[in-house]
Amino acid sequence: VEQLEGLKKTIKSIRNCELKRSAINMAFSDGNTNSKIMLIGEGPGAQEDQLGLPFVGRAGKLLDKMLKSINLDRKTVYITNVVNYRPPKNRRPTDQEIQRYYPFLKSHIEIINPKILMLFGSTALNAIIGNEKVISKVRGKWIRKKIGNCDPYIIASFHPAFLMRQPNQKKLAWIDLKMIREKIKKI
Ligand code: URA
Repeated sequence: VEQLEGLKKTIKSIRNCELKRSAINMAFSDGNTNSKIMLIGEGPGAQEDQLGLPFVGRAGKLLDKMLKSINLDRKTVYITNVVNYRPPKNRRPTDQEIQRYYPFLKSHIEIINPKILMLFGSTALNAIIGNEKVISKVRGKWIRKKIGNCDPYIIASFHPAFLMRQPNQKKLAWIDLKMIREKIKKI
């Protein structure tokens, strides 16, 4: 908890950041700091910015349902985003912004030290695994990659906001969720 407070302070002291300048609040994280399951989205939206919490808007409601379908909830997982301040007009964070926030994200992962890391959408996938990957190709498979001193099972899947626009992809997201359900039994 102390380390997380330190990280929050470090992020709050970021300078010359367009995201921070236009945001109301930092949306740092939600959930259980002792969880072995960490979820990473893209960045706060309007409601997240208002409340200072990740995934509390429409996409968050769908995320809650997705978690519930595999017997998880906000008390049993830990949730954050690639960037902690809302991008203006909900634009995608730029590559430069993703790179600037990556050291914070990496520290965040090292502090939580999850056994399972779930990446929602291409921004989280690109930040953690690399720019050349696309969700449709890498989803449905476990990826192993060390992030600092953390060596989690990583799975990337569609972002809940994408699933709201493309509900026909929910069947694939369900496969990914079931993979997590099975992996939890083994960790
Ligand atoms: N979308 C995200 O990626 N993160 C949030 O916190 C909310 C919506």
